[in-house]
Amino acid sequence: MKSVYDPAFVEHLFDDMSASYDRMNYITSFGFSEMWRKQCARHLDICPGAVTVDLMTGMGECWAHILQKSGPSSTLIALDFSAEMIRRAASKKVKYPNTRIEILKENVFGNSIPDASADYVISGFGLKTFDETQLEGLATEIHRILKPGGRFSLVDVSVPSNRVFKLFYLFYLKRVIPFLGRIFLGNPETYRMLGVYTEAFQNARHVEAIFRKNAFEVEYLEYFFGCASGVKGRKAHP
Ligand SMILES: C[S@@+](CC[C@H](N)C(=O)[O-])C[C@H]1O[C@@H](n2cnc3c(N)ncnc32)[C@H](O)[C@@H]1O
Repeated sequence: MKSVYDPAFVEHLFDDMSASYDRMNYITSFGFSEMWRKQCARHLDICPGAVTVDLMTGMGECWAHILQKSGPSSTLIALDFSAEMIRRAASKKVKYPNTRIEILKENVFGNSIPDASADYVISGFGLKTFDETQLEGLATEIHRILKPGGRFSLVDVSVPSNRVFKLFYLFYLKRVIPFLGRIFLGNPETYRMLGVYTEAFQNARHVEAIFRKNAFEVEYLEYFFGCASGVKGRKAHP
């Protein structure tokens, strides 16, 4: 049986989800997902003219927050391996005529972004579909891509530690979201997977440990009582 972390499985999952992903994501998170993206980007304090890499960019959901302070010489490199997500991201490029946006349809493991070329790396909700080995690979890639002193900020949906809150949250993720998926989209299975990944992911504590091991300065962050968590940090100067 294929693992749920198999890249081909994940790629198909997001291809299938692409038609409804942004609406479902916004509605089922009660708008929180958008707030968490904004906070995640704010941690970077992006300067105009910088090169920012948005890994697992999806349909470009983080772009508005990344490009808030962009200038004509800013560059955004947006990477994702789902053809359908990327196709929808490409249609958003017209909204940002002043920024050079380069879209890469690539697997993050084996991407073509040059060494030490990025000032910032961000990823919104792109962690939970990776197992430990893949997260190690992600840390290696981010370290390779960032310039010395470059910063990163990553966020994903998480399981809150408060027991009562956790019970409700998991019920919502594992029962209500797939139900909404069936009612509105006729497809409970793809949205059921979000609960499966989130329950296995728990929170970004293990991501923090992996990034620390990879010679980053790193800080663990919780968003809204632990319903999302992430890491931010910096690649140390040599
Ligand atoms: C949950 S979506 C997040 C989209 C967007 N960043 C957001 O803020 O909503 C995760 C995305 O990661 C992409 N992805 C997952 N594994 C990947 C990999 N190994 N390489 C490239 N993209 C990947 C999926 O195709 C999907 O579009």
